Amino acid sequence: MTGSVTTALLIALVITVIYYLYWLRKNNIFHRLGIPGPARIPLGELFHVIQKGARINDVDLIRKYGKVVGRTIEGITGPFEHGLPVLKDEQWKNARSIVSPTFSSAKLKAMYTLMNETSDMYRDRLLEYADKQEIFNINELSGKYTLDTISSCLFGIETNSLKNENATLIKHLKKFFTIDFTNIFLYILVISPRLGCYLAKKGYSIFPSDAINYVSNIVNHVISQRRQHLERRNDFIQMMIDHEEALLALNDKEIFSQGLVFLAAGFETTSVLLSFFFYIMATEPVVQEKVYEEIQRELGDDDISYEKLNQLQYLDMAINETLRMYPPFIKLDRVASQDYQLGDYHIPKGSFVNVPVYQIHHDPEYWPEPENFLPERFSSAEKAKRHPMIFLPFGDGPRNCIGMRFALLEAKLGIAKSLRVVEFQKCEKTEVPLRLGKMDNLNAKNGIWVRVVRR
Ligand code: HEM
Repeated sequence: MTGSVTTALLIALVITVIYYLYWLRKNNIFHRLGIPGPARIPLGELFHVIQKGARINDVDLIRKYGKVVGRTIEGITGPFEHGLPVLKDEQWKNARSIVSPTFSSAKLKAMYTLMNETSDMYRDRLLEYADKQEIFNINELSGKYTLDTISSCLFGIETNSLKNENATLIKHLKKFFTIDFTNIFLYILVISPRLGCYLAKKGYSIFPSDAINYVSNIVNHVISQRRQHLERRNDFIQMMIDHEEALLALNDKEIFSQGLVFLAAGFETTSVLLSFFFYIMATEPVVQEKVYEEIQRELGDDDISYEKLNQLQYLDMAINETLRMYPPFIKLDRVASQDYQLGDYHIPKGSFVNVPVYQIHHDPEYWPEPENFLPERFSSAEKAKRHPMIFLPFGDGPRNCIGMRFALLEAKLGIAKSLRVVEFQKCEKTEVPLRLGKMDNLNAKNGIWVRVVRR
């Protein structure tokens, strides 16, 4: 009896070792391709990411193995699976062509009136903080501004979070940008993406179910109202509903996923941009003065028109420099749709390719003194000297950020209205240098605390 148990255990051990060796061989593709990288240990990289954070893990890999590194990555599933960033080939092309007109110049101009209203509220909240002489986390306030703007311009709903202290929707949306390492599904996805995909179809997700349910209800409610023709607006949701009659219409899940992506992507990214921009204003008073002077010189006390806003060159340079130092997405992903020879490297069909945006933006070879904030790097003359692919805050190519112009317009309007009336200053809680969070989307670990005073 004892003998047969021992034999069974031995067989199990041998099978485990064979499977492990098979796994290592299968995943050692980088070695075969001549691409340096860490040893392939199941879950190995995930542990490093948990320990150090995605950004620092990338810095370490590049420092150790050079600018091209072979590594494993995790996939995204759940409610976003039919959204633009995840769709492939024809499905993506179809969805993108349906959604793109949302951000045409004519549509942006039409949305400008709505943006004007939310940016007024943002400015007023800043004036309140100035009058109360209260320090505050600009990241929280900016999140309210961007959520109210995206909801009103793209979904036709008033979230009114700028008027509320506790915005439940924001609390839930933030969960989509925080990875929960206690979620067992995350590990299943990394060990066996196939099993992970199967379970995802059964409703498992790396995102918490309360957040999925809360946000889903809101998006579904808006879609159903429009379907019943209870309301008609010239916005993104309407465009997708109107397409339902067309041959290549999006299905329910796709409409829902697009809505979710727009809400989540549009809210967090622009809020990060604004928060880091105002952090710079508070810590670099000379730059703040130059931005303010330009706003006063070009706009005076007039209403801020769409056209005039786009003529503020120094503001544009300062925003670009903020996006260089603090890109809201620290990396981009692509999947090779066919075998491809990239310089010395052969990339087999189906490989994931990561572009480490944060590292490129901080590489002293392209950006001398990368840790210094120098808007002049973005003058036309300086820009002409650089390769365009070393500045990638919105990605590039056909899959670049669809909301870029919307985001920049919203950010510029919020900034111009604010800096006209208040000056940003450091306070006792402002961190210099700022400690950054660990994940793929950039954030400040302890928030961005500032003070504002009336001009
Ligand atoms: C400062 C603000 C923003 C930044 C830095 C940003 C950045 C990015 C980046 C890096 C990508 C991936 C691009 C690539 O892979 O080449 C992306 C894609 C995307 N962004 Fe943004 N984004 C911002 C604002 C917005 C807004 C306001 C919206 C929507 C209202 C939006 C919607 C999207 C969508 C739908 C995609 C996927 C596009 C596709 O795959 O076809 N983003 N964004």
